This record gives sequence, C-alpha cells and structure tokens, in this order.
Amino acid sequence: MTRNSSELFNCERLTKDFGGLRAVDRVDFEVSEGQIVGLIGPNGAGKTTLFNLITGVYQPNEGRFGLREEDLTGLMPHQIKKKGISRTFQQSRLVLGLSVYDNLFVGMLETFHSGFFDTLIRRSRFKKELTTAIERANQLLKQFNEELVEKGFAPASEISQIDRRRLEICRALATEPALLLLDEPSAGMTPEESIELMSDIRRVQENYYPRLSIILVEHDMMVIEGITDKVIALNYGKKIAEGTFEEVTRNEELREAYLGK
Ligand SMILES: Nc1ncnc2c1ncn2[C@@H]1O[C@H](COP(=O)(O)OP(=O)(O)OP(=O)(O)O)[C@@H](O)[C@H]1O
Ligand SMILES: [Mg+2]
Repeated sequence: MTRNSSELFNCERLTKDFGGLRAVDRVDFEVSEGQIVGLIGPNGAGKTTLFNLITGVYQPNEGRFGLREEDLTGLMPHQIKKKGISRTFQQSRLVLGLSVYDNLFVGMLETFHSGFFDTLIRRSRFKKELTTAIERANQLLKQFNEELVEKGFAPASEISQIDRRRLEICRALATEPALLLLDEPSAGMTPEESIELMSDIRRVQENYYPRLSIILVEHDMMVIEGITDKVIALNYGKKIAEGTFEEVTRNEELREAYLGK
C-alpha cells in the first residue's frame, strides 16, 4: 500500500467486542508526523478501548494498525512501546510515596543497560548510567516546568495536580516515542489548569519534539480548541466525525450525540 511520506500511524477497521458489546467499531484513521489529534466522545464512546488496542493491551477482533509501513497488530504491549508508541493512563499511575525522580526512572528503566549485577560489580558503569539518567530526567522536567527540577527528590504526593500530570507525560516521553497517547490528561483539573496543560503540551511538542505525533483524549471540546491539528469524534465505538476543530463542531451527528443539541 502506498502511503503519504509524512504519515506515521494508521489503523483500519479496528474493532473490539466485549461479549455482545462492540466497544470499538471498525475505526479507521491516520496520524501524520508532528500532528496533534484530539480524540473526543461521550463516556463509554470507546476512547480508552481504542488506546488499549493501539498499545497491545487488548487484541482487536478485527482490523489492523501500524506505524509507517510496519504492521504492529498482534504485538505485546512492551513490543509496541519499543516500536515507538507510548501512553499515559486515565487514572494516574504515579507512586505518590516515591520521589519525582523515581517515578520518572520507572519510565526510563527500559533504556537502562545496567542490571542488578552491574550495580554491585561494575559500579562505574552503573554510576555513569545513573548520572546520564538524572541529566535526562532534569532535561525532561525542565521542558515542562523549570521548578519541577528542584522538586526532583520530593515525593510525588507533594507536587501539585498539574505537575503530577506533567510528570506522567515526562515519563511517557522518556522512551522517546514517535506516537504519544494521552488519555484525558486534564481529568480532575480546573478549566484554567486544563488550558495551561494543553498549551504546555503544544509548546513542548513544538519546541523539543516537532516530529512527535500525539493523540489526546479529552471530554471537553473547548479544552482542545486551538491545540489540535485534527479532531476525531467517537460515539458508541464508531467514528462519527473527523476534521479540523471547526469542521467537527459543525457536524450535526456529533452535536446531537455529544452536545445534546
Ligand atoms: N474490559 C472491559 N470489559 C467489558 N466492557 C468494557 C471493558 N472496557 C470497556 N468496556 C466497555 O466498553 C465501552 C467503551 O469503554 P471505554 O472505557 O473505552 O470508553 P471511554 O470513551 O474511554 O469512556 P470515558 O470517557 O468514560 O473514559 C463502555 O461501554 C465500557 O463499559
Ligand atoms: Mg476512557
């Protein structure tokens, strides 16, 4: 199949059934390199299930997906991560009792080469790797918020809600993905904080990772206005609209399903 050279991700007829319930229903779409895509839809529309399919948590009943020319359907989550798809979860996965650094190192573990043996015997190699990891951690934190670097040794429980979300995104970025999936990053935040986080995401992507593509789940259409290049709307597992924010908000089916208008 001939593909657009800037196309990064594509899926075709992706479908997931839970018993008699079709949670994702023959969904097709593409994401270009550097694009920020908003994935919207009411509760239960299938947004998280779609992410679970794309990250290998669930296997599709039908359909396929891939990065560039490579088909990733059927791979395990850790294999998909290695291929360049990273994510955050709807429910925070931070360990609040652990420090900001330690939470970040969890995301970086896969990039470490030292094993337990090295920490005991080959200490210089381990130390070097640790120093590099701290430098990388600081670099990631700084890209989002300079002040977060000073809080590296603080427990995650002591940083603000918005900083915790930034930290989770940093952790997902630590594996240097080509595609980043963010499942409702603004959940539990005030509208002002949500808008601040969205503009952070756009700024960090533009300044540091211009080739990174992002799919971002959001409930509130207004929160994604201005930061997305494209919006995809799901309802009952089906894609009901796709286009620019302006195009999608004009879609009648979406207005009925989603806005109740
Ligand atoms: N593991 C599962 N087993 C059975 N049904 C499931 C499972 N996961 C999701 N579902 C169902 O699939 C549908 C889609 O759920 P999903 O979590 O993907 O929706 P969502 O769009 O992420 O919703 P929300 O905005 O509330 O997060 C829902 O009807 C949900 O109850
Ligand atoms: Mg969800």
